[in-house]
Amino acid sequence: MPPEEEAAMHIDTPWRRDLEEVGPAMEKWARAVLGPDAQVSEAGSPGNGMSSETVLFEMTLGGETERYAARLAPMPEVYPVFPEYDIELQAKCMRLVQARTDVPVPDVRWVELDPQWLGTPFLVMRRVDGEAPPDIPPYVFGGWVADAPPETRAAMQRDTLQVLKKLHELSPANADLAFLARPKHGATALRQQIGYQRWYYDWARDGMSYPLIDRTFAWLEANWPEEGETVLNWGDARVGNVLYRDFAPIAVLDWEMAKVGPREVDLAWMIFLHTFFHDMAVTFGLPGMTDFMQWDSVIAEYEELTGHQVENLEWFTIYAALRFAIVSIRTSKRGIAYGTMEEPADPDDLVMFRGLLERMLDGTYWA
Ligand SMILES: Nc1ncnc2c1ncn2[C@@H]1O[C@H](COP(=O)(O)OP(=O)(O)OP(=O)(O)O)[C@@H](O)[C@H]1O
Ligand SMILES: [Mg+2]
Repeated sequence: MPPEEEAAMHIDTPWRRDLEEVGPAMEKWARAVLGPDAQVSEAGSPGNGMSSETVLFEMTLGGETERYAARLAPMPEVYPVFPEYDIELQAKCMRLVQARTDVPVPDVRWVELDPQWLGTPFLVMRRVDGEAPPDIPPYVFGGWVADAPPETRAAMQRDTLQVLKKLHELSPANADLAFLARPKHGATALRQQIGYQRWYYDWARDGMSYPLIDRTFAWLEANWPEEGETVLNWGDARVGNVLYRDFAPIAVLDWEMAKVGPREVDLAWMIFLHTFFHDMAVTFGLPGMTDFMQWDSVIAEYEELTGHQVENLEWFTIYAALRFAIVSIRTSKRGIAYGTMEEPADPDDLVMFRGLLERMLDGTYWA
């Protein structure tokens, strides 16, 4: 990528904690909670991800040195992307998946809810040696996924769908998923998801009106689908939240958006986020990636793996776009608040993929 594009893709993150302070603070916590001999070193940032903070570090405890990754809830004084943040829910998801499936998730060692140590609750998991396809700049722009032979990418896609298949085998019928239900937001799992999004949007918009998002809610209501079987939804189901080694998934990360709902919620999100990155690449004059996470092949492979017939994927894609649109008005607003972005004249321009969503709503996208 030419350097000016590289620079344009770089996103400053002034809202993150200072790593010089996190290491010593983590050590204080470890000495108080785990053992007085605990030593923390090599605190560093993985440099991927937009909404949360991950700190990589080493810790020596009882003479043994291990490598860890901490996931920190966002600091309350920075411009928040989400109205609530439940670190315990994320730990529960990872522990449940670890206990009930053979999907690889990091081993969660400690959950600390007391904000006195790092300013917010956090969890500490074992560090896994793998690589996630980057978000910044997106993997479709170039790098190890783009450089791989097509058949390797195809295998990577299939293995990733295999992960979804296994996660979707967990359902309220065979696992305790009650902690993921949101009864105050609706009567069924899908109603709860949309109800939750309405509640989120009402907080996120901060008194502003975003006509494109209002139209998307209206479209979803007007075209309400038959609701399929309720299963575990990973939530932020996308390749960027999987660590791979030799192109095979070795850790499934990022459970903050986990819910219960139809399988199509995760499938559509996975395809949509790829489409979003592809579309961005095309805007930058790059070819993008058209042999990976494509609509037809994802449906065919998922159906073959699971025997489940994928239904109403258009609806779930627009729902995915809605979720991402609300997140994106918050991340855009945060950029404006920190001076890394300018306030656009039209509020809908805060939706980074505005054109894509408009084409979906008027039907031209599918043709
Ligand atoms: N257990 C782990 N072992 C090794 N690396 C990890 C681990 N957890 C997180 N990471 C590193 O941190 C990066 C970001 O992690 P994650 O996707 O969980 O959070 P995030 O991207 O900050 O959150 P969000 O996607 O909500 O913005 C990963 O791509 C990976 O490089
Ligand atoms: Mg992530």
